Amino acid sequence: MMNPVIEAILKRRTIRAYKDTPLSRETLRTLLDCAMWAPSGRNSQPCHVRVIKDKALLRELDTDFWNKVGRGTPAYTKCDVNPVYQGAPALFLIYTPTEDQMNSGLAAENIAIAAEGLGLGSCIIASVGSLLKAEEGEKWKKIIDIPEDFKFQIAIAVGEKDEDPAPKERKPENFRIVEAE
Ligand SMILES: Cc1cc2nc3c(=O)[nH]c(=O)nc-3n(C[C@H](O)[C@H](O)[C@H](O)COP(=O)(O)O)c2cc1C
Repeated sequence: MMNPVIEAILKRRTIRAYKDTPLSRETLRTLLDCAMWAPSGRNSQPCHVRVIKDKALLRELDTDFWNKVGRGTPAYTKCDVNPVYQGAPALFLIYTPTEDQMNSGLAAENIAIAAEGLGLGSCIIASVGSLLKAEEGEKWKKIIDIPEDFKFQIAIAVGEKDEDPAPKERKPENFRIVEAE
């Protein structure tokens, strides 16, 4: 049997079709804990993470997003059929006091791998930054209780998978052991 952590890492795929099943508070809490336990440079722990699970709020976020970017803009994969949160029942949002893609990325990946470990799907979403990094994103900081001067970094949609996409091709030649001589 494969080690379960390795299995979750190797089997995770970006999921863009979700069942309409809400996630339990326990599951959301577990995923938040996994984000919290991500390593951070100098143990700075800069990430502030919120998870939105309320459908009306998710729809409002999608409306604000499209009002910002303009309909007809090919804003992200499946944007012709999916809302910006990919129709998932939960959307994690990561903010930091200053721009910090590295530490946020580690927290985001912890959520994605933990979700896979729980049998759930995830999609890391940068595109919603067009709204959340803009002036119009200030409203959302108030709604989710994030300080005004914080910077949005990345979002992660999580939910029960409703698709089983084929793995995307990788570039093994970019990952090599250095052989002496
Ligand atoms: C930093 C980052 C930003 C991403 N932003 C989006 C996004 O805005 N919308 C989306 O549908 N997928 C997004 N993705 C998912 C990627 O498209 C996906 O990871 C990539 O195609 C590889 O597929 P895989 O995750 O199934 O291996 C993002 C992934 C990363 C790591």
